[in-house]
Amino acid sequence: MTLRTATFLVVLAFSAAAIAAPKGNVAAGKKAYESTVNSKGEAKAACSSCHGKGANQPLEGMPKLAGQYPEYLAKALNEYRSGKRKNAIMAGQVVDLTDADVANLSAYFGSLKGDIHDLSGHAR
Ligand code: HEC
Repeated sequence: MTLRTATFLVVLAFSAAAIAAPKGNVAAGKKAYESTVNSKGEAKAACSSCHGKGANQPLEGMPKLAGQYPEYLAKALNEYRSGKRKNAIMAGQVVDLTDADVANLSAYFGSLKGDIHDLSGHAR
């Protein structure tokens, strides 16, 4: 095998891994999800207070996050941050989030076993 071929294969292996899984850190995402303090050390509502334990037991009318595509949830969080997706509640929740937080939170959501198959359990 030539050096060029070997280099190509290494690059290919790493890019396949990057496409397959969200790049964030699951443990850091879980911590951010359950945290009741923001980056300035001030008290805040934890994500889990609305979206529920394991992102799977939301309060009435709040979306279930476990089992949803992590790439979709990252996109949603970034759109709340940029203002492209408008929601008065979530706009306030994301002001403090960094790109790394979004990646970590999405990786955490992606690691959870979800039970989203249809809209049963959701208010309509
Ligand atoms: C006070 C309650 C509340 C808190 C706290 C909260 N959320 Fe939400 N979240 C909501 C509501 C309500 C929606 C639906 C908004 C909409 O219709 O766009 C939502 C939507 C979302 C969505 C999009 C879901 C989808 O299916 O499109 C994501 C992702 C999300 N929240 C993540 C988070 C994260 C991460 C945190 C913590 C940083 C958080 N939320 C804190 C109430 C909350």
